[in-house]
Amino acid sequence: MSVLAKTRIFNNTEAIIEGWYWALQSSELKKGKIKHLNLMGKDLAVYRGSDGVVRALSAHCPHMGAHLAEGKVEGNEVRCFFHHWKFDSEGNLNDIPCRDKVGLKVKQPNFPVEEKYGLIWIWTGSEAKRKLPFVPELEDQEVDSTLGTPFVKECHPNVMMINAIDAHHFYSVHNLPVKLFLKPRIIDSNTIQFNNETKMPDTNVLTRFLGKFYAGALTYSMCYFNASSGTVTIGPDFLHFHIMFAIRSTKEGKAEGQTVLITKKRKGVLGKIVNSVLLFATKIVGNYFAAGDTEVFKTIKFNFKHPLAEDHAIIKFIQHAEKQATCDWGYGKVIDENIEEMIEIQNGPIIPKRSEIKVKEEKRNV
Ligand code: FES
Ligand SMILES: [Fe+2]
Repeated sequence: MSVLAKTRIFNNTEAIIEGWYWALQSSELKKGKIKHLNLMGKDLAVYRGSDGVVRALSAHCPHMGAHLAEGKVEGNEVRCFFHHWKFDSEGNLNDIPCRDKVGLKVKQPNFPVEEKYGLIWIWTGSEAKRKLPFVPELEDQEVDSTLGTPFVKECHPNVMMINAIDAHHFYSVHNLPVKLFLKPRIIDSNTIQFNNETKMPDTNVLTRFLGKFYAGALTYSMCYFNASSGTVTIGPDFLHFHIMFAIRSTKEGKAEGQTVLITKKRKGVLGKIVNSVLLFATKIVGNYFAAGDTEVFKTIKFNFKHPLAEDHAIIKFIQHAEKQATCDWGYGKVIDENIEEMIEIQNGPIIPKRSEIKVKEEKRNV
């Protein structure tokens, strides 16, 4: 059996990879409001202060355990419902109303929060070590975005997300008229991108026509963060579409996702109109991706017993996932390194060169 059938982190619900995870849509949390949130098994009280900034505290009051989301927001602080202890924006206890002086030093754990793309993101730990997921092509540029439809898949986020680099199935399921070769590029220890290197073939009228829109390889690029969320870039040279899949797991091993449609910011009224049309078109593409292969995910029991050379991108992804740091968060625990197994997985399946993959041309209905 392949070593890829016995992974420590990949497809393991108890292995939550440290990172940013989407928590709520921004519109779900108004100024001065506080919400209960269970993020991958961890209870949080998430609130938006009078300054508009969102903060996340560990849910249960350090006095007697009441859920802080039962309390209320005062300015940028939170007062517990039960005995009215008050915590500042960092979680420091600063008021016990029945006393003149607080007299004890207590800090409720708080977690880094960021807000972007219409989503509230929370870091699974006390200190954020990386920036939010991004579109590599638009990194450090201003963007416009809109949210697509949230979805749930009946499989682990890792399994759902490898679908986007399962070049093999693009051909068998989606009748893609070109065989993709997705070459991995490590952006940093947490971020890996796969870029297609093949050109549109010269097989029929349609592919010849489509080929005119690509000077080089057919654009298909997928970039992963935490081996779960990712951004895909597709489209002809003159117009790229960018879709982000923000994904988190559930205790039952499902994937809860939110698509985000992204485009670069365009100025002026015309720019606004162009972007709203583009984002609408991207939404249709994003929903197609998100809805794709739904039936398979309802019943799959992922077990990668016989990896093929054609599965090289998936193999690389699994190797990447196995190197990630896990965290003690909710139902997740820190997964100890099993050096022997890691070496076996990292050295195990051989990643072929593009020229080594034989492309068997078949006539496809497109
Ligand atoms: S339980 Fe929160 S103040 Fe007592
Ligand atoms: Fe698919």
